[in-house]
Amino acid sequence: MTKLFIVGIGPGSKEYLTKIAIDIVKKADVTIGSKRAIDIFDDINEAIVLNVRDLSEKLELSVDLAIAGKNVCVLSTGDPGFSGVLNPILKIANEKGFNKDNIEVIPGISSLQLAAAKNKLSWDDANIMTFHGRENIEDILKIVDNGQKTIALPSKSVKDMAKFLLANGVDPNRKVAICEKLSYEDEKIVNSTLKEVANSDFTYMCVMIIF
Ligand SMILES: C[S@@+](CC[C@H](N)C(=O)[O-])C[C@H]1O[C@@H](n2cnc3c(N)ncnc32)[C@H](O)[C@@H]1O
Repeated sequence: MTKLFIVGIGPGSKEYLTKIAIDIVKKADVTIGSKRAIDIFDDINEAIVLNVRDLSEKLELSVDLAIAGKNVCVLSTGDPGFSGVLNPILKIANEKGFNKDNIEVIPGISSLQLAAAKNKLSWDDANIMTFHGRENIEDILKIVDNGQKTIALPSKSVKDMAKFLLANGVDPNRKVAICEKLSYEDEKIVNSTLKEVANSDFTYMCVMIIF
Protein backbone atom coordinates (compact mmCIF):
# COMPACT_ATOMS: atom_id res chain seq x y z
CA MET A 1 0.00 0.00 0.00
CA THR A 2 1.40 3.40 -0.93
CA LYS A 3 1.55 6.05 1.70
CA LEU A 4 1.82 9.75 2.10
CA PHE A 5 4.02 10.62 5.06
CA ILE A 6 3.93 14.08 6.60
CA VAL A 7 7.15 14.33 8.56
CA GLY A 8 8.18 16.96 11.12
CA ILE A 9 11.90 17.71 10.87
CA GLY A 10 12.29 19.80 14.03
CA PRO A 11 13.55 23.38 14.25
CA GLY A 12 16.19 22.99 11.56
CA SER A 13 19.46 21.50 12.71
CA LYS A 14 20.27 17.84 12.14
CA GLU A 15 20.61 17.19 15.87
CA TYR A 16 16.87 17.57 16.31
CA LEU A 17 15.93 15.13 13.53
CA THR A 18 14.27 11.93 14.74
CA LYS A 19 15.43 8.50 13.61
CA ILE A 20 11.99 7.74 12.23
CA ALA A 21 12.10 10.89 10.06
CA ILE A 22 15.50 9.83 8.64
CA ASP A 23 14.25 6.27 7.98
CA ILE A 24 11.06 7.40 6.23
CA VAL A 25 12.95 9.80 3.96
CA LYS A 26 15.46 7.06 3.13
CA LYS A 27 12.64 4.74 2.00
CA ALA A 28 10.36 7.27 0.27
CA ASP A 29 10.31 7.34 -3.53
CA VAL A 30 9.90 11.12 -3.48
CA THR A 31 10.55 13.68 -0.72
CA ILE A 32 9.07 17.16 -1.00
CA GLY A 33 10.10 20.05 1.24
CA SER A 34 11.65 23.49 1.53
CA LYS A 35 15.34 23.76 0.70
CA ARG A 36 16.27 24.13 4.34
CA ALA A 37 14.33 20.95 5.16
CA ILE A 38 15.71 18.90 2.25
CA ASP A 39 19.28 20.01 2.97
CA ILE A 40 19.50 18.28 6.35
CA PHE A 41 18.96 14.78 4.95
CA ASP A 42 21.94 12.82 3.60
CA ASP A 43 19.95 10.03 2.00
CA ILE A 44 17.08 11.07 -0.31
CA ASN A 45 15.95 9.20 -3.43
CA GLU A 46 14.20 11.97 -5.36
CA ALA A 47 13.90 15.45 -3.86
CA ILE A 48 11.43 18.13 -4.93
CA VAL A 49 12.06 21.57 -3.46
CA LEU A 50 9.06 23.77 -2.66
CA ASN A 51 8.94 27.44 -1.78
CA VAL A 52 6.29 29.83 -0.48
CA ARG A 53 5.10 30.73 -3.99
CA ASP A 54 4.52 27.20 -5.24
CA LEU A 55 3.52 25.65 -1.91
CA SER A 56 -0.07 24.73 -2.86
CA GLU A 57 1.01 23.38 -6.23
CA LYS A 58 3.71 21.16 -4.67
CA LEU A 59 1.38 19.91 -1.94
CA GLU A 60 -1.11 18.96 -4.64
CA LEU A 61 1.68 17.19 -6.46
CA SER A 62 2.51 15.21 -3.30
CA VAL A 63 -1.06 13.86 -3.17
CA ASP A 64 -1.12 13.18 -6.94
CA LEU A 65 2.14 11.21 -6.69
CA ALA A 66 0.76 9.17 -3.78
CA ILE A 67 -2.42 8.48 -5.80
CA ALA A 68 -0.18 7.38 -8.68
CA GLY A 69 1.37 4.76 -6.40
CA LYS A 70 4.55 6.41 -5.11
CA ASN A 71 5.59 6.47 -1.47
CA VAL A 72 5.76 10.18 -0.81
CA CYS A 73 7.21 12.11 2.10
CA VAL A 74 6.36 15.78 2.70
CA LEU A 75 8.69 17.55 5.11
CA SER A 76 7.39 20.13 7.54
CA THR A 77 9.70 22.27 9.65
CA GLY A 78 9.01 21.91 13.36
CA ASP A 79 5.85 19.89 13.87
CA PRO A 80 3.44 19.42 10.93
CA GLY A 81 0.43 20.13 13.17
CA PHE A 82 1.56 23.56 14.39
CA SER A 83 1.30 26.09 11.58
CA GLY A 84 2.57 23.32 9.34
CA VAL A 85 1.49 21.45 6.23
CA LEU A 86 -0.85 18.98 7.94
CA ASN A 87 -4.13 20.85 7.43
CA PRO A 88 -3.51 21.91 3.81
CA ILE A 89 -2.56 18.34 2.84
CA LEU A 90 -5.60 16.84 4.58
CA LYS A 91 -7.79 19.30 2.67
CA ILE A 92 -6.20 18.45 -0.70
CA ALA A 93 -6.34 14.71 0.04
CA ASN A 94 -10.02 15.02 0.90
CA GLU A 95 -10.76 16.95 -2.31
CA LYS A 96 -8.91 14.37 -4.40
CA GLY A 97 -10.50 11.39 -2.62
CA PHE A 98 -7.18 10.12 -1.23
CA ASN A 99 -7.95 7.91 1.75
CA LYS A 100 -6.91 9.53 5.04
CA ASP A 101 -5.90 6.09 6.34
CA ASN A 102 -3.01 6.15 3.88
CA ILE A 103 -1.61 9.32 5.45
CA GLU A 104 0.82 9.03 8.35
CA VAL A 105 1.96 11.98 10.44
CA ILE A 106 5.34 11.93 12.17
CA PRO A 107 5.71 14.62 14.83
CA GLY A 108 8.76 16.87 15.01
CA ILE A 109 10.12 19.14 17.72
CA SER A 110 8.37 22.46 17.19
CA SER A 111 10.19 25.79 17.27
CA LEU A 112 7.78 26.66 20.10
CA GLN A 113 9.02 23.68 22.16
CA LEU A 114 12.65 24.62 21.63
CA ALA A 115 11.90 28.26 22.49
CA ALA A 116 10.27 27.13 25.74
CA ALA A 117 13.17 24.80 26.56
CA LYS A 118 15.83 27.45 25.84
CA ASN A 119 14.04 29.81 28.23
CA LYS A 120 13.52 27.04 30.82
CA LEU A 121 9.77 27.50 30.61
CA SER A 122 7.07 24.95 31.10
CA TRP A 123 4.43 25.60 28.44
CA ASP A 124 1.46 23.68 29.81
CA ASP A 125 -0.07 26.92 31.06
CA ALA A 126 1.06 29.18 28.20
CA ASN A 127 -1.10 30.83 25.56
CA ILE A 128 0.10 29.23 22.33
CA MET A 129 -0.61 31.29 19.25
CA THR A 130 0.46 31.38 15.65
CA PHE A 131 -0.02 34.31 13.33
CA HIS A 132 2.14 32.83 10.61
CA GLY A 133 0.42 33.45 7.27
CA ARG A 134 -2.77 34.56 9.03
CA GLU A 135 -4.53 37.89 9.26
CA ASN A 136 -6.03 37.36 12.71
CA ILE A 137 -3.40 39.30 14.64
CA GLU A 138 -6.07 40.99 16.82
CA ASP A 139 -6.81 37.59 18.42
CA ILE A 140 -3.73 38.08 20.57
CA LEU A 141 -5.40 41.03 22.33
CA LYS A 142 -8.01 38.68 23.82
CA ILE A 143 -5.39 36.70 25.75
CA VAL A 144 -2.17 38.68 26.06
CA ASP A 145 -3.19 40.16 29.42
CA ASN A 146 -4.77 37.03 30.91
CA GLY A 147 -1.93 36.49 33.39
CA GLN A 148 -0.22 33.67 31.45
CA LYS A 149 2.82 33.94 29.24
CA THR A 150 2.17 33.89 25.50
CA ILE A 151 4.36 31.98 23.06
CA ALA A 152 3.66 33.12 19.51
CA LEU A 153 4.88 32.75 15.96
CA PRO A 154 4.71 36.38 14.80
CA SER A 155 2.84 37.56 11.75
CA LYS A 156 5.03 39.45 9.26
CA SER A 157 7.81 40.46 11.67
CA VAL A 158 8.55 40.70 15.36
CA LYS A 159 8.78 44.46 14.96
CA ASP A 160 5.28 44.74 13.45
CA MET A 161 3.86 42.45 16.09
CA ALA A 162 5.40 44.56 18.89
CA LYS A 163 4.15 47.78 17.26
CA PHE A 164 0.66 46.31 17.00
CA LEU A 165 0.65 45.36 20.69
CA LEU A 166 1.91 48.82 21.74
CA ALA A 167 -0.70 50.53 19.56
CA ASN A 168 -3.34 48.48 21.33
CA GLY A 169 -2.35 49.48 24.85
CA VAL A 170 -0.06 46.65 25.96
CA ASP A 171 2.54 47.84 28.50
CA PRO A 172 5.69 49.04 26.65
CA ASN A 173 7.84 47.64 29.48
CA ARG A 174 6.36 44.18 29.16
CA LYS A 175 9.18 41.61 29.16
CA VAL A 176 9.64 39.62 25.98
CA ALA A 177 12.11 37.04 24.68
CA ILE A 178 12.82 36.77 20.97
CA CYS A 179 14.18 33.37 19.97
CA GLU A 180 15.72 33.62 16.54
CA LYS A 181 17.08 30.85 14.28
CA LEU A 182 16.68 28.22 16.97
CA SER A 183 19.04 25.24 16.73
CA TYR A 184 21.23 26.91 14.09
CA GLU A 185 24.80 28.08 14.71
CA ASP A 186 23.69 31.71 14.66
CA GLU A 187 20.82 31.12 17.10
CA LYS A 188 20.03 34.21 19.18
CA ILE A 189 17.88 34.60 22.30
CA VAL A 190 17.21 38.25 23.10
CA ASN A 191 15.62 39.17 26.43
CA SER A 192 14.11 42.60 26.12
CA THR A 193 10.97 44.70 26.41
CA LEU A 194 8.13 45.27 23.98
CA LYS A 195 9.17 48.87 23.29
CA GLU A 196 12.75 47.84 22.54
CA VAL A 197 11.84 45.07 20.10
CA ALA A 198 9.45 47.46 18.33
CA ASN A 199 12.64 49.26 17.26
CA SER A 200 14.77 46.22 16.46
CA ASP A 201 15.12 44.09 13.37
CA PHE A 202 14.93 40.33 13.38
CA THR A 203 14.62 37.77 10.60
CA TYR A 204 11.29 36.03 9.93
CA MET A 205 12.59 32.96 11.77
CA CYS A 206 11.57 33.91 15.29
CA VAL A 207 9.45 32.74 18.17
CA MET A 208 8.23 35.54 20.44
CA ILE A 209 7.58 34.96 24.14
CA ILE A 210 5.60 37.62 25.97
CA PHE A 211 5.92 37.26 29.76
C1 LIG B 1 5.34 27.85 8.67
S1 LIG B 1 5.73 28.17 10.34
C2 LIG B 1 6.20 26.55 10.79
C3 LIG B 1 6.18 26.27 12.27
C4 LIG B 1 6.61 24.84 12.54
N1 LIG B 1 5.61 23.90 12.07
C5 LIG B 1 6.95 24.58 14.00
O1 LIG B 1 6.30 23.71 14.63
O2 LIG B 1 7.90 25.20 14.50
C6 LIG B 1 7.25 29.00 10.18
C7 LIG B 1 7.53 29.90 11.37
O3 LIG B 1 7.94 29.09 12.48
C8 LIG B 1 8.93 29.75 13.24
N2 LIG B 1 10.17 28.95 13.19
C9 LIG B 1 10.37 27.84 12.47
N3 LIG B 1 11.62 27.37 12.67
C10 LIG B 1 12.22 28.21 13.54
C11 LIG B 1 13.50 28.26 14.15
N4 LIG B 1 14.43 27.36 13.91
N5 LIG B 1 13.74 29.28 15.00
C12 LIG B 1 12.81 30.21 15.28
N6 LIG B 1 11.58 30.22 14.74
C13 LIG B 1 11.29 29.24 13.88
C14 LIG B 1 9.10 31.13 12.61
O4 LIG B 1 8.19 32.02 13.24
C15 LIG B 1 8.68 30.86 11.17
O5 LIG B 1 8.28 32.04 10.51
